[in-house]
Amino acid sequence: MSYIHSYSDSERQRLLEQADFLEKYLYPTISFGPDDSILEVGCGVGAQIRCMLRRFNPLRITGVDREPSRLDTALANLPDEVQMGTVELFAAEGHDLPFDNHTFDGAYVFFVFEHLTDPVPVIREIQRVLKPGGRFYCTEVVNQGVYVYPGTPAISAYWTAFNRLQSDLGGNPDTGLHLASACIDAGMTVSSFNPVPVMLDKRMTDTVERRHFLHMWERCLLSGAPALLERDMIEPDMPEKVSAGFEQLSNNPETIFQYDARQILAIKKPQQP
Ligand SMILES: C[S@@+](CC[C@H](N)C(=O)[O-])C[C@H]1O[C@@H](n2cnc3c(N)ncnc32)[C@H](O)[C@@H]1O
Repeated sequence: MSYIHSYSDSERQRLLEQADFLEKYLYPTISFGPDDSILEVGCGVGAQIRCMLRRFNPLRITGVDREPSRLDTALANLPDEVQMGTVELFAAEGHDLPFDNHTFDGAYVFFVFEHLTDPVPVIREIQRVLKPGGRFYCTEVVNQGVYVYPGTPAISAYWTAFNRLQSDLGGNPDTGLHLASACIDAGMTVSSFNPVPVMLDKRMTDTVERRHFLHMWERCLLSGAPALLERDMIEPDMPEKVSAGFEQLSNNPETIFQYDARQILAIKKPQQP
């Protein structure tokens, strides 16, 4: 298993629920037009495609993923849209896209570059298939910005192991901080680059909402548990201890939890080929 989150059924379901949960944090700054043809690289099970369709009603979304089983699930999640031609799905590597130059009005990538050593070849390839002036949105994690109060030893030790494995597998758990530099290296113009703090504190008063918020992050963290256990990087009882830690956080009115990400909007320069 060389992908930290696994390609299991439960992970497919988690990605759908995660996209719905994060929609209110990630999408207010995103804008595509109703006639746009849009590309998503690393579309997974089609979770972000569902959000994009809901919000912008674009002409077409083309989803690309390197893992064919993910695309089977995306097809099952979007059967009508695929049949009508509103959504197209392709198995391909992000750095080698099967499209002509200047094909798309816009493109986006969410939660993919954390798995890559270097995102620049993928961004360069996205730029190639964008029309001049095309918009590229990217949202990526900053795992060192995760803040848990009151901290628990189990969550802290687990998160350290998770990020070590992400790096060992050739990824970058703080890739969000590299987005602006990577887009510049790929020859794009950076239009905006902002933090996306996803945060729980005393402003969130509804107990059901607080529990749901923490449960989403518990599942996100534990999505790496099978890969960590397989490599003996955590003790067998560590996932249970992490869950117990989240249960304590859910019951504590003093809890503060922040998950950090960065979002960029980069534009293809008119003179780029
Ligand atoms: C964490 S999932 C995110 C899926 C989707 N963007 C979302 O937010 O729900 C990352 C996806 O990126 C895909 N992926 C990783 N590296 C890729 C690459 N170089 N080219 C294409 N797909 C890639 C993986 O197969 C996986 O489906």
